[in-house]
Formats: sequence, structure tokens, C-alpha cells
Amino acid sequence: MAVETSQAGGLSMVRATEQDLDRILRIEQASFSVPWTRKMFEVELGQNPFGHLYVAWPSDDEGGTSGFIGYVCFWVVFEEFRLMTLAVEPSARRSGFGRALLRHAMALGRAQGVTRALLEVRASNAAALRLYEQAGFRRTAVRTRYYAHPTEDAVLMELDLSSGR
Ligand SMILES: CC(C)(COP(=O)(O)OP(=O)(O)OC[C@H]1O[C@@H](n2cnc3c(N)ncnc32)[C@H](O)[C@@H]1OP(=O)(O)O)[C@@H](O)C(=O)NCCC(=O)NCCS
Repeated sequence: MAVETSQAGGLSMVRATEQDLDRILRIEQASFSVPWTRKMFEVELGQNPFGHLYVAWPSDDEGGTSGFIGYVCFWVVFEEFRLMTLAVEPSARRSGFGRALLRHAMALGRAQGVTRALLEVRASNAAALRLYEQAGFRRTAVRTRYYAHPTEDAVLMELDLSSGR
């Protein structure tokens, strides 16, 4: 059975529910030029058998009174962990939460037996590229003009998780 909660590194993570979608959408819209729609998140919550959507808040925010500060969506497709989206509330950035969210998500994937992690990111997204490179991801390919609004290349990245890194 999938692990439902995870706590370490100053962050608590719990599986998202329908009640979280308003706040997820607010963070999403503040974070991306082409935000996911409510329908897309609903599919990850209820219909996609590979989908995992978690929200997170600082561990010192007892009871989550200030609301969660970020979320992560990933797919576990057999041995592959695919990072689908990850965002931290703008006012909570640069405090280590993005790194902790990514680490927790991959730990949940590992608990389900994944051996490699894959993602794609806008070529101009310096913060995310740096975050992923620090986590050990390496660039494997570029998809030219993959994104719209603005048109932009995607950088494909991969991390070997088989060694228990
Ligand atoms: C990318 C994002 C999730 C990072 O979250 P965060 O909580 O600010 O990141 P952290 O504080 O954990 O930083 C971890 C590392 O990421 C890198 N990083 C984060 N923000 C950065 C920035 N603005 N510029 C450069 N590097 C940055 C740094 O290497 C940082 O390590 P350091 O603090 O030791 O230098 C956040 O900026 C965000 O939500 N962006 C909008 C959504 C997005 O782009 N998601 C990724 C889609 S692929």
C-alpha cells in the first residue's frame, strides 16, 4: 500500500483531497504561465491509477493553520517515477521546501519500487533546473519548442534511483 504521509526535513506531506484544490489552483496560477486546470488535478486525484498528488506544510505549523505551502504531483509507472508538477507558494520560496517536497516525493516513489526518475522543465526555469541538478538529475535531451506561452524548449532530466541515493 502507498505511504499516505511523510514527515522529515521540516516538512509534512499528506495526500491531497478535493478540499485542497482551491488552494492548489491559487498556487498553480501564481506559479505557471500555463497552469493546470481543476479538471487536470481532479483526474490525478480520482481517475489516474498512476497519479499521486500531495500537499505539504512546514512541520512547525501545528495543525496546518496557515495552510499548505506547496504540492507535488508525480506518477509511478512501474519502475519509473515521473515528476508531473511541483510548486511552492511564492512567499514561502527559498526556504528549502521545494527541495524537501522533491525528496519526499521520490522517497514515496522508491517505497513503491521505482528505479529511475524523469521530468521535463522549461529551459528558462533557472530555479527548477538548479533544484533538480542539486538533487542529482542530469540533462538527457532537449525537446525543441515543446512549451507554449511562451514558446520554449523543454529540458528532459533523469535520475537513477536504483542505488538508493
Ligand atoms: C522551483 C521551486 C519549486 C523551488 O522551490 P523553493 O522552495 O523556492 O526551493 P528551495 O528553497 O528548496 O531551493 C532548493 C534549491 O533550488 C534552487 N533554487 C530555488 N530557487 C531558486 C532561484 N530563484 N534561483 C536559483 N536557484 C534556485 C537552489 O539551488 C536551491 O538551493 P540553495 O538554496 O541551496 O541555493 C519554486 O521556485 C516554484 O514553485 N517555482 C514555480 C513552479 C515551478 O517552476 N515548478 C517547477 C516546474 S518543473
